[in-house]
Amino acid sequence: MLERYVKKILQARVYDVALETPLSEARFMSKRLNNQVWIKREDLQPVYSFKIRGAYNKMAQLTQAEKDKGVIAASAGNHAQGLAMAAKEMGVKATIVMPRITPDIKVQAVRARGARVILKGDAFGEALEHALELVAEQGYTYVPPYDDPDVIAGQGTIGMEILHQHPDPIHAIFVPVGGGGLIAGVAAYVKYLRPDIKIIGVEAEDSACLKAAMEKGRRVVLDQVGIFAEGVAVAQIGKEPFKICKDYVDEVITINTDEMCAAVKDIFEDTRAVSEPSGALSLAGLKKYVENTGISDTTLICINSGANTNFDRLQHIAERTELGEKREAILAVGIPERPGSFKNFCKVIGRKRMVTEFNYRYADAEQAQIYVGIQVKPDGNDREELIHALLEAEYPVVDLTDNELAKLHIRHLGGGRTPSDSNEEIYRFEFPERPGALLNFLNHLGHDWNISLFHYRNHGAAYGRVLVGLQIPNGDRAHVEEYLDKISYRYWRETDNPAYQLFLR
Ligand SMILES: Cc1ncc(COP(=O)(O)O)c(C=O)c1O
Repeated sequence: MLERYVKKILQARVYDVALETPLSEARFMSKRLNNQVWIKREDLQPVYSFKIRGAYNKMAQLTQAEKDKGVIAASAGNHAQGLAMAAKEMGVKATIVMPRITPDIKVQAVRARGARVILKGDAFGEALEHALELVAEQGYTYVPPYDDPDVIAGQGTIGMEILHQHPDPIHAIFVPVGGGGLIAGVAAYVKYLRPDIKIIGVEAEDSACLKAAMEKGRRVVLDQVGIFAEGVAVAQIGKEPFKICKDYVDEVITINTDEMCAAVKDIFEDTRAVSEPSGALSLAGLKKYVENTGISDTTLICINSGANTNFDRLQHIAERTELGEKREAILAVGIPERPGSFKNFCKVIGRKRMVTEFNYRYADAEQAQIYVGIQVKPDGNDREELIHALLEAEYPVVDLTDNELAKLHIRHLGGGRTPSDSNEEIYRFEFPERPGALLNFLNHLGHDWNISLFHYRNHGAAYGRVLVGLQIPNGDRAHVEEYLDKISYRYWRETDNPAYQLFLR
């Protein structure tokens, strides 16, 4: 079987449109992991992912009659763009059925390549069903995203390039897995020629369909599939890919969202490329492999499979990277509801640690719950030591670092409305950002007024921004502002801002 695939790969038609992408050395990562790490740069393809290889090779094998009927696929992402480009190059009409939730940027990218887009259904399954109906009704030629020998052979050209580009020993190649077309192609070529090289599949832990199939010895359908890494969000490994994977994939590693985000940052730091979460998956797997095995002084290769991410996702990805690197602890801490207790709490945290986030809202007269993010060192027990120090100081602490609900939602929702008799005034401040800056800010603010609302988020910018509610008895605002004028931070009174009035008053 491998020989048949190697022949197909050697004859695959991809270079009319696809590039032989570079294999870039990841210097920072190599140093950090004590191994030689290389990244295969499929993000540099003209459609910003490897998918053009399989789509073009499949189309190149179609008969003229099949091409004349026009091609069709269902896809919310990279396969759609690959097929649209391949079809345009060959002058073939393409129809892509996309779920209605597909981001506009992807719809536009497919249209820009001349394909007709049909928006149908709320999820991929419905789009696929509609595409197959159109095949039956209109006679279009269906081009599958991964479950097809010609698609697999097109993707396999990546394995061929890697062996040309790196003739020296390679310990392992890490490959992201969705439906398995990419890993099947790479495994077929590499295992035929260099069976000593390990092929390691990397899956998102909430769409690990290859791992499930390897464990059961047969393909299984996952009940649910996470879509954070939409490129690999597949519920069942492809039939044809699994024929290869079951014998030639050495191991499958699974990765969570935070680890993927951390790898997006790692790739950026080494190459200045911004990859999509699926594109960074294989590096996340490579890092985990080194951590689990303790291996050193070997050559490890991963595939950056794509870079089609919406710009507005980057904020969220950046937010999660610290968690993925285990550099941030998210804690819920109870502190006494009295003036000065914020400052005492910051003292326990110490001056050396950066506070990355601080959310607080007055709840009752006894105790306040704060939601706090604190930078910790990734190695050793820094997070445990921090929690221990807080418990020693008799603060009740709940560690929310691994709590998805807290990280996604609660952090932005701290609050509720203030009681009507609270005499609350709201001020917005700016202060220069550095370790200890939050404590300095609280020192300046003094103890004279009870703090009834607090929101702070470190954005990695030069200035920290804080929203503070102060309970001011007898409405003695002039006195407060006289004091605030003396401290050197810029501030704005926001009590009359409609956003505050609508949601927090
Ligand atoms: C960026 C990216 N990485 C990885 C994959 C997984 O490829 P396969 O479905 O062949 O396993 C895809 C699939 O679309 C993808 O778009």
